[in-house]
Amino acid sequence: VTATDRPHAAFDTVVLAGDAVRMIDQRVLPDTETYLDALTADEVAHAIREMVVRGAPAIGIAAAFGVAIEARRLAGDARDAFALARAVGPAVERLAATRPTAVNLFWAIDRMRRIMASASGPATALAAALLTEAQSIWDEDLRMCRAMGDHGAALLTPGCRLLTHCNAGGLATAGYGTALGVVRSAWRQGRLRSVLADETRPFLQGARLTAWELQKEGIPVTVITDNMAAWMMKTGEVDAVVVGADRVAANGDAANKIGTYGLALAARAHGLPFYVAFPTSTLDLTLPTGDLIPIEERPAREVTHVGDKRLVPADVPVRNPAFDVTPASLVTALITERGIVRPPFGPGLQNLCVGG
Ligand code: MRU
Repeated sequence: VTATDRPHAAFDTVVLAGDAVRMIDQRVLPDTETYLDALTADEVAHAIREMVVRGAPAIGIAAAFGVAIEARRLAGDARDAFALARAVGPAVERLAATRPTAVNLFWAIDRMRRIMASASGPATALAAALLTEAQSIWDEDLRMCRAMGDHGAALLTPGCRLLTHCNAGGLATAGYGTALGVVRSAWRQGRLRSVLADETRPFLQGARLTAWELQKEGIPVTVITDNMAAWMMKTGEVDAVVVGADRVAANGDAANKIGTYGLALAARAHGLPFYVAFPTSTLDLTLPTGDLIPIEERPAREVTHVGDKRLVPADVPVRNPAFDVTPASLVTALITERGIVRPPFGPGLQNLCVGG
């Protein structure tokens, strides 16, 4: 990966830095731009659970780096590669137990497990192979997002005003973004007029992260609260909706940040295109439909409080499902690094994966 592949590299979402996994702390953006170094797999697992690092591809990359630094840390005490694989195993399980919905986490961990399963020779050789694999996952993500962004931008009419949800940007990936990869490519091609970013209650990934990331790059962005989106469509301020995904089933049903489903319904009601952008690492062809996608329920405090301020009376129950599933019937097209898939998505997604 060369510097020109990352022209916007004003921040590092998740990178290897010596013996550490370095992550920009997304909990404190946009106020504070600070980095957190995790030195063990368990520290990485904690960072994923606490949303220091979030977004489907970024979670997978962080976990892969977590496995790699754990192996390097333990290699000195392991007799051989086989013993090292056994020593790292429990930490790999703990990484896999951090967040259930984004399939990229399990996709990346499976890749690391495959390297561990073929272990032979000295422990240091396995540790080196795991580092190489984790870095490849990062490199591939950057390439996939760039290709996906270019494919997606070609769908847009010049002067397009896009609405997006959550943060499917550089902060959710190695650096280019999925939905915001489409935004980046469209901006460079002069096709994009502006972006409306849903604030995305309760964790505010849109208000805090998408706005920060696009502002940093000089792409015009306006934040709206989630309940304004349908009205913006009605009053003619939106030309298309583009969102990311955490897991896409074989029929094209797509899990993404809670609120995505409502946006898709509103887009359909207003005759607007609704695009879902994701790398093939987000595809789960083992699930026939989205009904089988596990939906994470996050802590109540994310809903009851903003920072230290309580919004909801004590003892009133709240719900906090972090994702919803948009049925394929509401999706105009799926945007991947291998090209655009149109309905019916089932055969299209199968074809996409032949040979890949
Ligand atoms: O809970 P988060 O912030 O990890 O959820 C992130 C999303 O829902 C993104 O839209 C999705 O991961 C796509 S990221 C390229």
